[in-house]
Amino acid sequence: MRIVIKPEQQEVAAWTANYIIEKINAANPTTDNPFILGLPTGSSPVMAYKEMIKRHQQGEVSFKNVVTFNMDEYVGLDEHHPQSYHAFMHDHLFDHIDIPKENINILNGNAADLAVECQRYEDKMKSYGGIDLFLGGIGPDGHIAFNEPGSSLVSRTRVKSLNYDTIVANARFFDNDVTKVPTTALTVGVGTVMDAKEVLLIITGYNKARALREVVEGGINHMWTVSMLQMHQHAILACDDHATMELQAQTVKYFKEIEEVILGNGPK
Ligand code: GLP
Repeated sequence: MRIVIKPEQQEVAAWTANYIIEKINAANPTTDNPFILGLPTGSSPVMAYKEMIKRHQQGEVSFKNVVTFNMDEYVGLDEHHPQSYHAFMHDHLFDHIDIPKENINILNGNAADLAVECQRYEDKMKSYGGIDLFLGGIGPDGHIAFNEPGSSLVSRTRVKSLNYDTIVANARFFDNDVTKVPTTALTVGVGTVMDAKEVLLIITGYNKARALREVVEGGINHMWTVSMLQMHQHAILACDDHATMELQAQTVKYFKEIEEVILGNGPK
């Protein structure tokens, strides 16, 4: 696991956007061989999306040959509802870049048969040879996508009931009214994320500090589903200083020093 620590959220966003853009450009994707990018919603990626849009407008990256798969979507919320993840993605990213409509994949939380929809999604990812880079965020309870505490660490895309903490956390997007938050969602599984060639998570703010500690310093545990990334060969956590507040000082020092070595500033 690589942990990149920057002082503030803005720097994390710039680093993340740059990392994704460099990956896309290095892959030199074509129509027949597109770059497959997994994407999250939530507040964590918003600044990174802004940065990606800016860099796209400056002509530094094209999304013409990028195919995206979003992590999750509420069940039963119209896709035009302002808080649907469909609407979120269009507002915060897709409407501002050159990605073709047909390259965008988001789970349909209104499908007649939700189990069939989940299988279709898994099959479609496989048909592209899997996800090249899965960007994500985490919940304060260490969940990824909607893989709440107790989720199987080998889970696949499925219907999931949301727990009370997540419903309360997401109420801020629904007029702070918990009764308006959908209680069920479709989500990729922990196993689905683990199958990605690379996983990059944005973890910022003090409210993620306990989760970061459990995920990095604790053992692999289904109560903190992101901890499964300890078993991933290419996982990066992009954090701000605030999120690292519960880590041991030596853990922070260790990962900051590694980044210095990567930058060529190793011991002389
Ligand atoms: C929701 C989403 C997750 C997201 C999490 C954290 O539960 N399903 O994908 O990572 O919220 O959201 P935020 O980034 O707003 O803290």
